[in-house]
Amino acid sequence: MDSIHIVGGQRLEGKISISGAKNAALTLLPCALLTDEKLTLGNLPRLADVDNFSHLLNGLGASTKVEGVKKGEIGRRMTLEAKDIASTVAPYDMVRKMRASILVLGPMLARAGEATVSLPGGCAIGDRPIDLHLRALEAMGAEIELAAGYVKAVAPKGRLPGGDYSFPVVSVGATENALMAAVLATGRTQLFNAAREPEIVDLCNLLVAMGGRIGGIGSSHLIIDGVEGLHGCDYDVMPDRIEAGSYACAAGITGGSIELVGARAADMLAITNALSAAGLVVEFIEKGIRVTADKPLKPLAISTAPYPGFPTDMQAQFMAMLCLAQGESFLEETIFENRYMHVPELRRMGANIDVRGRSAIVHGVGGLTGAQAMATDLRASMSLVLAGLVAKGETEVLRVYHLDRGYERLEEKLSAVGATIERRTAG
Ligand code: EPZ
Repeated sequence: MDSIHIVGGQRLEGKISISGAKNAALTLLPCALLTDEKLTLGNLPRLADVDNFSHLLNGLGASTKVEGVKKGEIGRRMTLEAKDIASTVAPYDMVRKMRASILVLGPMLARAGEATVSLPGGCAIGDRPIDLHLRALEAMGAEIELAAGYVKAVAPKGRLPGGDYSFPVVSVGATENALMAAVLATGRTQLFNAAREPEIVDLCNLLVAMGGRIGGIGSSHLIIDGVEGLHGCDYDVMPDRIEAGSYACAAGITGGSIELVGARAADMLAITNALSAAGLVVEFIEKGIRVTADKPLKPLAISTAPYPGFPTDMQAQFMAMLCLAQGESFLEETIFENRYMHVPELRRMGANIDVRGRSAIVHGVGGLTGAQAMATDLRASMSLVLAGLVAKGETEVLRVYHLDRGYERLEEKLSAVGATIERRTAG
């Protein structure tokens, strides 16, 4: 099992190229199932989750071919083709490893008229049910049954008629599944209180490029008029706003200055506003964003919220940075019920944090000390890396497979801006 070793204390300075967005890639990939033509996706990040998703699609009958990285590009290009759907079953061992596998449900139902997907089960940050995915598909005319840990969805007449659904809770994944099911329905679907994340906009833009008809893109009221069929196309994945925000926190915690090349400012205003409030200098430059920390960090009060609010995927990284702020910060995690798994590990490095339910108070300390720390989930792992960058001495982050799910070439990117960081392979 690999581990990441960091010797803290370097002020990070330089440029980091931002990769394609993991959470956009994972909803664009299953769109290949919606057409029998070729879909080419560019700017794909080199991540374990992307590789796992393409294996899942192979099992359903889609071929996937990775092309070399063209000069000047940082992401991979993958051409996918689902001439026929060979299977409509997403098995437990795939879904267990990656809950985003549930995103094949909508497109398989739309293309093949039926889909059987293992229930994903919970994960470290929470129970993460899929009831909203199923309610939305039922509202569009699907018949749903649960048996033996699997969900089976059927379009009674082979194609969904479509229908209206109002989400009681904003759900990124459920909005994505509903969108991918609605584009090939025979009628109109309206989604109310739909998620508005930039990754949803990226999905809508791809579906429209494939011939889909979607109104209200970027709003919480989406109107989808089903079409007979979709065609293939060539589409580049948006840049990863959470990766960019994570490296901005690396500048903040080390008192450094990092240029986030390729970051798309419009997607991350809640993040850049919080960085500015903490005292960082945020400059919107031609190719991205430059973040500089040239004075002590100020404490913040942050509540996570659906887009355009402060993203839950940035909570752990800000918590690490705010451990060194001058004063007390208040964090509230409103999206997931158990997203403070990084707290005990940060405390072992000298952080002073109180957690009460979904709220945390971070008392700023003068410094952190390196330690062995256990990664529990993707963003928690990044908060441990961030703490290690500033901690006195060596930090070893274990179970880095969590990191590899969402951060492409992490140690390479951080070394390039001056971090003393390396990956060691045990055994
Ligand atoms: C997506 O997860 C992201 N994953 C998550 O990023 C992100 O944290 C989350 O959206 C919120 O922004 C991908 O895009 C692959 P939700 P998703 O459905 O779709 C509840 C990362 O670190 N809910 O918006 O699973 C749910 O329990 C990952 O990159 C239901 O109750 O999130 C949660 O409390 C972590 N029933 C809330 O809604 C449902 O049917 C928001 O979840 C679905 C969700």
